[in-house]
Order: sequence, then C-alpha cells, then structure tokens
Amino acid sequence: VSIAVFASGSGSNFQAIQEAIERGELNAKIELVVTDKPGAYVVERAKAKSIPVLALSPKDFGSKEAYEQAILAKLQECEVKWIVLAGYMRLIGETLLNSYTSKIVNIHPSLLPSFPGKDAIGQAMEHRVKVTGVTVHFVDAGMDTGPIIAQRAVAVTDGDREATEQAIHAIEHDLYKEALQATLK
Ligand code: GRF
Repeated sequence: VSIAVFASGSGSNFQAIQEAIERGELNAKIELVVTDKPGAYVVERAKAKSIPVLALSPKDFGSKEAYEQAILAKLQECEVKWIVLAGYMRLIGETLLNSYTSKIVNIHPSLLPSFPGKDAIGQAMEHRVKVTGVTVHFVDAGMDTGPIIAQRAVAVTDGDREATEQAIHAIEHDLYKEALQATLK
C-alpha cells in the first residue's frame, strides 16, 4: 500500500512507521514525506531513510487550494493511496479531502473527543486528568473530529509533563503501526 506521511515537526511517528515497515510489521511503502515546514527535523529523518520529501511553504501559494493542488499533483504522480498525518499542524482542506475521501488518517495525543487541537498534552495536564491517551482516527473537515479507529489510555504522571509526554509518544509509535496495519487496504 502506497502512503504519504505528512508532518510538521520532529517526525518521530514518521520514523516509527518507516521502521515498522522495515521490520515487516506494516505492509506499506512510504512514497513521500510532505511537510509545510521546510526546516522541520522530519526532513532530516526522511533523508536518512532515503525517502523523498515534498517541502512546500503555504505562504508561497495564493490560497490553501493552490497549496493543496501542488501537493495533490505530487501525490498522484507517486500513486499514493493513503495520507497518514503524523504531527501535521494544519487542517486538511477540500482539495485533499475530496481526492482522498476516507483515505486520510491522523494520530492525536489525547482520548478524543477530549482535548482536540493544539497542545493536547498540556490541556490534559491543565485539567489534571488522571488518564489521557492516544487516538487514531479518520480525518474529516473538522479539527480532530473524524471517526475513531483506535485508542489507548495512558496514565498521567502527576504534574510531570515530560514523563507523561514520553509515555504518550511510546504508545503512539506502537498504536499507529497497529492501527495502520488494520486499516490500510
Ligand atoms: C504527536 O504527538 C502526534 O500525536 C501529534 O503531533 C505529535 C508529532 O510528533 N499530532 P512527531 O513529530 O511524530 O515526533
């Protein structure tokens, strides 16, 4: 199954997916990494794995539609079947949603529908919840609102953001691989 991974940041989820593929635990091929942040660390990680990168700054385009059209052209050229969001910090617009209906998935560091949007871990700490977690879901036009595919709970280490974050990332890397293996067809 040909996939593109979209990321704006560090890319640890990208790397976990690629390494699961290398170990034969996930039947997929990452054709392309797409980033809206040409300086993001995910670009280095992709290069280290010899995976092509499409790095486009939305501000270089006249509209969201034009930006997504440029991405879409490349996805079609690479015959990408699924879009896998992994820390991509932008809402997917109509152009990509219409061409990849029910073929876009995302991972979010909370038990949705709690704490959608930015800094879900910070939101969970602020609310002093005892349990948070990770959600993998289909992407629709909303912010972290599509149908849920998989969830796993993570205990919050009292007031310790760093420990909680580490636990969440470890679960993410495991859960995404499993959820993708069950979903990508
Ligand atoms: C992850 O916590 C993911 O759930 C969220 O953004 C973060 C990306 O981390 N959507 P990384 O870039 O994969 O390391």
